[in-house]
Amino acid sequence: MSKKILVTGGAGFIGSHTVVELAAAGYEILLIDNFSNSEHWILDRIAKVCGNRIPFKHLDLRDANAISACVSSYRPDSVIHFAALKSVGESVQQPLAYYENNLTGTLNLLQAMSNAGCNQLVFSSSATVYGVPERCPITEDAPLDAVNPYGRTKLMMENVIRDVVTAQPDFQAAILRYFNPAGAHPSGEIGELPLGVPNNLVPFVAQVAAGLRPQVRIFGNDYPTPDGTGVRDYIHVCDVAKAHVAALAALDDSGVRELTVNLGTGRGYSVLEIVHAFQTAAGLPIPYAFVERRPGDVAECYADPTLSHRALSWHAEHGLERICEDAWRWQRGLR
Ligand code: UD1
Repeated sequence: MSKKILVTGGAGFIGSHTVVELAAAGYEILLIDNFSNSEHWILDRIAKVCGNRIPFKHLDLRDANAISACVSSYRPDSVIHFAALKSVGESVQQPLAYYENNLTGTLNLLQAMSNAGCNQLVFSSSATVYGVPERCPITEDAPLDAVNPYGRTKLMMENVIRDVVTAQPDFQAAILRYFNPAGAHPSGEIGELPLGVPNNLVPFVAQVAAGLRPQVRIFGNDYPTPDGTGVRDYIHVCDVAKAHVAALAALDDSGVRELTVNLGTGRGYSVLEIVHAFQTAAGLPIPYAFVERRPGDVAECYADPTLSHRALSWHAEHGLERICEDAWRWQRGLR
């Protein structure tokens, strides 16, 4: 019998790609989402890529009774928890919405799991928990210090999960700290759907290439980096998705109670390198201009992926070229 996985936020960017990888690996899946940052047609696209429809429930994790009933009736072997609000700027404007949605949702989910005797969780965390990193590459034992409400919700959720691991001897959790997921499924059927003006670099560059925006605004060219622009660790979303499948196997095989790992490539690219790589992938000129630094940004942020390689028996397979090619295929399909 295949394992049953409940995926919260399964219609979102990383959730949808993970659902596809889970289906390919033979898992039985129940996808839940409240569509606050996705579209119903993503479910049709997931079905197209998987070759069959994935069972789905429209559910908001803030509804404690609904998630409790869902977990009790489905009785998943594991939960992969993506559902959360994720915009840094919005979190500064609306902190209460972020604390309510991300924390209440996670508490309700953990309580529902506890009620139903479901003891395995894979959690979607972020490199944002490292705040302003003291040095790069960042290892998992680096100091934690989130610097905005979004980041603080991620750090709080990590701590809540670790407390549950401590309190419940049979509870296992894998906490995956994503660096900069980007790209799209190579089929062009699923990808990132930014609400309004994209905050993140790759979807913004894709919209400039598509002629939807006049130019990329590069936030700062006076950072202490080789070309003066910010350096980040961009990781293909399909690699991120596969790491979740690897995390389920690692929890089962090792029996380890708690696993916290970085999901990155270990290689940093500058904003200018991203613009140039996208230009090559799209075969189109991408106009850009240097503007002021964005408040809260750091010069560089990239992972030491050593622990993830060892603990998950996984590594990122795709490089920047594939990220740009796949993001561009997806963007063209949206036009
Ligand atoms: C951002 C968030 C981070 C979150 C992550 C999710 C901030 C400060 N950080 O990370 O908490 O976990 O997204 O994916 O928002 N850039 C431009 N022009 C643009 C957009 C970005 O020059 O229009 C630059 C940024 O200054 C940065 C790089 O591109 O150097 C990447 O930016 P972005 O994609 O927003 O990711 P992060 O800032 O690393």
